[in-house]
Amino acid sequence: MLATLWTNARVVTADAAIDRAPNAGTLEVLTQGGRIIAVGPALSREGCRVVDCGGRLLTPAPVDCHTHIVFGGDRANEFEQRLEGVPYAQIAQTGGGIKASMRATRDMSLEALVAASLARLDHLLSEGVSTVEVKSGYGLSVKAELTMLRAARALAQVRGVRIVTTWLAAHALPPEYEGRPDAYIAEVAIAGLEAAHAEGLVDAVDSFCEGIAFTTAQLAPLYNRAAALGLPVKIHAEQLSHMGGTAFACGYGAVSADHLEYATEADAQAMAASGTVAVLLPGAFYMLRETVLPPVAAFRAAGVPMALATDCNPGTSPLTSILLTMNMGATLFRLTVPECLLGVTAHAARALGLQDETGRIAPGLSADMVLWDVQTPAQLVARIGFNPLHARIFKGEVVA
Ligand code: NIG
Ligand code: FE
Repeated sequence: MLATLWTNARVVTADAAIDRAPNAGTLEVLTQGGRIIAVGPALSREGCRVVDCGGRLLTPAPVDCHTHIVFGGDRANEFEQRLEGVPYAQIAQTGGGIKASMRATRDMSLEALVAASLARLDHLLSEGVSTVEVKSGYGLSVKAELTMLRAARALAQVRGVRIVTTWLAAHALPPEYEGRPDAYIAEVAIAGLEAAHAEGLVDAVDSFCEGIAFTTAQLAPLYNRAAALGLPVKIHAEQLSHMGGTAFACGYGAVSADHLEYATEADAQAMAASGTVAVLLPGAFYMLRETVLPPVAAFRAAGVPMALATDCNPGTSPLTSILLTMNMGATLFRLTVPECLLGVTAHAARALGLQDETGRIAPGLSADMVLWDVQTPAQLVARIGFNPLHARIFKGEVVA
């Protein structure tokens, strides 16, 4: 197979070793068979197809490492309720929130779910995203949770994208288990996990640890089962209050802890010790008009890698723009431009355990890159409602 040499680009690799090397401003990238073969100045052109990138910015393709893009219905009515002052937790406690999406999702066939999700996926892809994590969590029965993950997997059959699936049955307690959370964890979250895992549908296990969802004591049997199956774990933690989910998940070597507005310095230290990525979700922060910021300074001080993701979901973050997510990471959370870019590339890949597969432009990784009609990362992050995508390159090929 012919190798391709990508020349005349401003390459930002998101790989610290390469970006800091001498001549980092004049890099070329050689790809072959879907992989990155070499990155360096003045590579040999012999036997290569040469692509002139016209001086454009070349970055790793963004990874959206936290989404709920597979769901039925919409919850714009709850947006209106919240505008009138009804808090999110109260909407959730009175049958809305995740349970409203559960009713709509349970009503849909696999085909209908795929069609509904495809529109959201296409918006992400239009901004260069090439890896998308998709969670279950709106079915809340074994059957409906399995259908959600089958729909997620089906998306990768119809688009050039890498889909990573996460089992999130412990997202909310459905009405038929009212007052019986332990039974729900055993009969749906754990039994369903085993079925889904047997079908090859599970790349990681997640949960919602919150006053309106589950406690760490209720979640422990699920995480013990995930560990026994050898599956990586993550957690939605410290989003609305401090429940101890972060430290709990770090005890299982969690690949990521997500949201984290109410996380503490001690949580940051626990995350550093377990190598857990902090996945920050500015879309949910913004939509809920949260005022407590995630402890970014503590993450920096402890050396915890920070990722940014859309958290695309029908309630708290109906966001399908990774570019706006970067902008919000900067304006709302005060991340620097390099932190925003790393947050949606190298660190986002790490949050999925894919740090050796995608998210950086480095030899050996999948050739997942984007050519942008700008010259600097700051120009990508600064603007709002602007999509300078010139070409999305997935596994070495330009995809429409
Ligand atoms: O990541 N925090 C919990 N779960 C989702 C969305 C919940 C919802 O549908 O309201 C989130 O924000
Ligand atoms: Fe989420």
